[in-house]
Amino acid sequence: MNYQDDIPLAKRIRSIKTIPTNSFLRIGLISIGIGVSLILLINKSIFQQTNYSNNSINSSETIENQSLLGHLPYAEASKEELVLFSPGIYVHKDIYETFKEMQFKAAQKGISLQLLSGYRSIDLQRDIFYENKSIRNQTAIERSRDSAPPGYSEHSTGYAIDVGDGNYPNTHFEVEFEQTPAFKWMERFASKYHFVLSFPPNNKQGVSYEPWHWRFEGTINALRKFEAANKIIKFK
Ligand code: DAL
Ligand code: ZN
Repeated sequence: MNYQDDIPLAKRIRSIKTIPTNSFLRIGLISIGIGVSLILLINKSIFQQTNYSNNSINSSETIENQSLLGHLPYAEASKEELVLFSPGIYVHKDIYETFKEMQFKAAQKGISLQLLSGYRSIDLQRDIFYENKSIRNQTAIERSRDSAPPGYSEHSTGYAIDVGDGNYPNTHFEVEFEQTPAFKWMERFASKYHFVLSFPPNNKQGVSYEPWHWRFEGTINALRKFEAANKIIKFK
């Protein structure tokens, strides 16, 4: 005997009739579900794209917001990161060998690359910025074209150096340095050693041209430090 024979005919018919209705409902609900999910997914991807473009705008805006008188914030290198290069001048250990080699190569051509300054503590930068400002009777804005406020100097990282020509000491920290063999050597070969001129003429940061000031970008750590500065060059 068929087990359905136990069910009264009316109920059997109703249950047979409801099967296609249920399936239809189920298919309908699944379709609606898929449709809603698709709409949500599309919306999400559009939202993410909008957000992404907002982020890129925000990042350049943030860089501007965090800059002070055209300078960007830099944390002090730790003692472990620093090494004595010459009397009184510390540099980041990542550039010690590199700059020694640069000096060696330049010397082979009779050129004297002299390291004039390297790492500067934030305290020293404070003295330089405020004392020179008052000695020279300059406002903060005037002084900031030549010197970064404390906490905003590339020198704090240990990756920035001031280079002079040992044979032309009267050009140290002067724009005339650009006429010396040392500068010409740097201009030609510095990028080979991952050094770049931080403040070329008419730079986007509004800092005075400093042909003597070079920063090292030859490690991921160094590149990260100068990421914001490089973005200013790209975005403006
Ligand atoms: N002379 C550069 C701008 C500095 O003080 O870091
Ligand atoms: Zn400098």
